[in-house]
Amino acid sequence: MERITLIQHLRRRQNMAEGATGEFTSLMMEILVAAKFVSLQVNNAGLGEDILGLTGRVNIQGEEVQKLDEYANEIFTKLLGNSGLICAITSEEYDKPVIIPPDQAGKYVFTMDPLDGSSNIDVNVSIGTIFSIYRKQSPGNEVTDDDLLQKGSQQVASGYIVYGSSTMFVYTSGEGVHGFTLDPSLGEFFLSHSDIKIPESGTTYSINEGNIETWEEPQKNLVDYMKETDKETQRPYKLRYIGSLVSDFHRTLLKGGIFMYPGDQKNPQGKLRYAFEAAPLAFIVEHAGGKATNGQTRILDIQPSEIHQRTPLFIGSTREVDLVDRFLKK
Ligand code: AHG
Ligand code: MN
Ligand code: MN
Repeated sequence: MERITLIQHLRRRQNMAEGATGEFTSLMMEILVAAKFVSLQVNNAGLGEDILGLTGRVNIQGEEVQKLDEYANEIFTKLLGNSGLICAITSEEYDKPVIIPPDQAGKYVFTMDPLDGSSNIDVNVSIGTIFSIYRKQSPGNEVTDDDLLQKGSQQVASGYIVYGSSTMFVYTSGEGVHGFTLDPSLGEFFLSHSDIKIPESGTTYSINEGNIETWEEPQKNLVDYMKETDKETQRPYKLRYIGSLVSDFHRTLLKGGIFMYPGDQKNPQGKLRYAFEAAPLAFIVEHAGGKATNGQTRILDIQPSEIHQRTPLFIGSTREVDLVDRFLKK
């Protein structure tokens, strides 16, 4: 494959887009620089860099904040906030949105889970960053809820970086899903997965079965069905669960199958956040030919009513998400 960098890819897309101003390209370039900073820290973690462990603080999610959560949150906020392209930043790690002063603001809203899979940071398991880009909807300089609480279908682009055995940058702006792998010696992301399409069906399901006692009956029936032996429908499925959404999703996107984080009797809305995790990955999976629902409706059709709102998430190959509909849809 011709060695195309992420920047060259973005420039080519920009040159083909009618009336493109180059702002989106500039925004994506800020994101990829921030991704390189985080990748460097993740790959040096444990080598004396004081980046492992806890900060001793708890975030609005009620989760202990790891140093790398904070580092990633700050680096993305600084680079995007100073880009002149953003009017607001919402983050899983910020209670409230960061509003950029009008004289330094631009037409996009940036939404992120700066470090996903935090529980895996200190054990050298892949972690990631998830982001969404929306257009400012309200007129004038003021940032309103119309800008901060948008349906996933309103996304201009979304993507994730997975800091694993290699650092990969995967994104869509609505014209296919494209993956780039970081060449650390050059510090450049090169196109490695052009126009990713998720297989129609897969052989794995991904869920935390430790929660089985609190699942609703239909959820239990669905997983029991996936475990039964039936050659014709390629069952039983294999269970794969890393505990980092970005990694579990990345495997599902490339190999097919389904990732599920259902609601349960303890948490009817589940654990994952609509804006920071479900909506960006749903935008990607649909542009790769897959599906994402909350068990009842399409993720991208949900209108969030608050920034940190949670949602059940079923995401992956069409055949498996349709199976979820069969067992869960009321
Ligand atoms: P985060 O580290 O951003 O808080 O996200 C963690 C999420 C997600 O990465 C993963 O799928 C899920 O938590 C795992 O939850 P359980 O430990 O409950 O399975
Ligand atoms: Mn997360
Ligand atoms: Mn996180």
